[in-house]
This record gives sequence, C-alpha cells and structure tokens, in this order.
Amino acid sequence: MASITSSLFLFSSTILFLLLSFPYSDAQTAPPLVTGLSYTFYKSTCPNLESIIKTQLQTAFKTNIGLAAALLRVHFHDCFVQGCDGSVLLDGSASGPSEKSAPPNLTLRKAAFDAINSLRDAIEKACGRVVSCADITALAARDSVALSGGPNYKVPLGRRDGATFATVNDTLKFLPSPTSNVSVLLSALALNNLDVNDLVALSGGHTIGIGHCTSFENRLFPARDSNMDQTFFKNLRLTCPALNTTNTTNLDLRTPNTFDNKYYVDLMNRQGLFTSDQDLYIDSRTKPIVTGFAVNQSLFYEKFAFSMVKMGMLKVLTGTSGQIRANCSAKNPGTVGDAWSVVDLEVGSGGAAAAY
Ligand code: HEM
Repeated sequence: MASITSSLFLFSSTILFLLLSFPYSDAQTAPPLVTGLSYTFYKSTCPNLESIIKTQLQTAFKTNIGLAAALLRVHFHDCFVQGCDGSVLLDGSASGPSEKSAPPNLTLRKAAFDAINSLRDAIEKACGRVVSCADITALAARDSVALSGGPNYKVPLGRRDGATFATVNDTLKFLPSPTSNVSVLLSALALNNLDVNDLVALSGGHTIGIGHCTSFENRLFPARDSNMDQTFFKNLRLTCPALNTTNTTNLDLRTPNTFDNKYYVDLMNRQGLFTSDQDLYIDSRTKPIVTGFAVNQSLFYEKFAFSMVKMGMLKVLTGTSGQIRANCSAKNPGTVGDAWSVVDLEVGSGGAAAAY
C-alpha cells in the first residue's frame, strides 16, 4: 500500500514539475520574441485593437473573400523585403518608384491596401494614432488565416513603420520568383534566416487565393511540365490558352477559399500551380515535410503559425525607431531627411505635431 502511495506521489509530483516547467501551453510553439515586441503591447493604449480588426474584416470578407488571401500576401511581401515595417504599403513619391511598383508586388491587390487604410482609420478613431500600419498588417494577415478556417495564433506587437521603401533590385532579391526551384527558394529565405521548415510551412499560404497565368505559364508552354498532372494541365490550358493572357486561377484547386492542408494534397497529386510549389514535393529536402502536412492538418497549423510569427518579427523597427504613420500609404510629413515634407511643415502651422 505504502509503495502504491509513494509511486502515486512521485507520479503526480513529476506531472506538477512538468507543468511548472512549461507554464504556457504555447511556450514551445512560438519562436523567441524579438526585443521591443510583446503580446500585450497595446493592452492599455488600444485595448479593442484586435476586435476592431477582426469585426471589420469579418464584414469585408462576406462580400470579397479574396481579400483574405490578398492581405496575407501583403504581410509576406512586407516582411521579406526590408523587414515588417509597412514599406510595401507606401505609394511612390518624388524620391522614386515605391516597392509597390516592383514586379513581384504588381499583383498585390488594391483592395488589400484600401482595407489596411480603412482599418487604420477605424483604429485611430478608437485609440488615437498609436498603432503602426505594420502591426495592423500583421494582425490582418492573422485574421485572414483564422477567418478562412486556419489557426488563430497570437501576434507579437510593437512594430513601427519605416519611412523608406526598398529599391526594385532589393525587392527582386528577397522575393523569389514562382519559377524558382527549392534550391533557389532556400537561398532566398536564408537571406532572412528562414529555413527549410519555414519554406514548406509558409508556402502553405497558397491554400487560399489566386494566381495569374503569367505566374505559371512557364509550366504550360511550349509543352506540359512533366511534373504536372495531365488533367490539371489540360484545364489550365483552357484558362491560359496562350502566353501572356490576363486570366487567373485558384492556387488550391480542392478548397480555394479555405485555409486547410489541401494545398499539400494538391502537391502530392502533382497539382501544384507554380514551379515553386510543385518542386516542394520533388526535392528530397522538402518532400517529407509536404507529406507530413498533407496527412496531418494540426501539424501544418502549428508549424504555419510558428513560421508566421517568426516571419512577422523580421528586421522590425521598435522603440523610438521609425514612426506611426497617419496614412499607411505615405510617410508622415516632416519625417527627418525628407526635403519634400520640410516644405509641407513650413507651409502648415501645426505640422510638427504630425512628425513621430
Ligand atoms: C516561397 C516563395 C513564394 C513564391 C515564389 C510565391 C509566389 C506567388 C505568386 C507568383 C503568386 C500569384 C501572383 C499572381 O499571379 O497574381 C502568389 C500568390 C499568393 N501568395 Fe505567394 N509566394 C511565395 C510565398 C508565399 C508566402 C510565404 C505566403 C504567405 C504566408 C504567400 C501567400 C500568397 C497568397 C495568399 C497568394 C494569393 C494572393 C491573392 O489571391 O491575391 N506566398 N504567390
């Protein structure tokens, strides 16, 4: 009897020890926080931030479900180039063409930029100008995933907005082309310290949204890419009958608007749209990860959330760096080093207050 009691005691104290060692259930599934970011950043300054974003997007997705994919992609394009500083949101100016006009960004949807600006306006109304456009973009991407049926992960906050955008060359360097194979993709991701697991998990973003014929016509002309399923090819040729057509098709043929693991099932059936998708199931470094996600959706959700949080912390501006933009499409008037805005400041009387 005594030995049963002491075994029970030993067992329960071991469980207690394990629970105390890992007090947060998601402690192991989130990457370490970058200095300056926190999960409670706006707790006192904008307590309703997350519900404002979620409610507004919920309404917007009812009339335009494609907006979810568009917002997710904007966050990815923001983070990969120059870090998650909202630079992809900036319109071009007298200082030059913006990131928006670089080739990989030409297919970002205007509706996504408009939605981010309208979220920003609603948030400013509720809380004043305290939340950055980069944070709004990160939260909108998370809600796009969650409201499409995917994981609802926590987003570290406290990013600030940059005042400059990247050059076309940098944009091209950090955003790989859809014609890339795994080796090229891995080298591109390594520039941001992302690895093979991040590559396969983040590519799962292609479980929602659309692509233009020009992004995958390399696989249709002059002949079928031998790694593409025949029927899939025939159907794509109907959508894209010739080179350079402007049509689009769904990225995930099985469940195009649901954030699930069917993208990986597509790849296993040689029905991935881009070379950069299909090669994940050809290359021996990524193939087992694809299979793992195709058979286990929870595993995909967990790894996707982990890699999104990691991606969302790339080269962030925090503390007193950068600014909180008054308009997500333009840097604030009076930003240091901006000769054009200095003129604005002299003309307007209260301009200094707008400079953060
Ligand atoms: C790994 C390298 C990647 C490449 C080469 C790539 C390439 C592309 C291309 C070419 C398109 C379609 C553009 C068009 O023709 O309209 C696209 C769409 C999309 N991508 Fe990626 N992508 C990559 C990674 C990612 C990541 C990491 C995410 C998010 C986590 C993502 C999310 C999306 C979404 C949601 C769409 C659909 C957008 C819409 O419907 O407006 N992609 N991607």
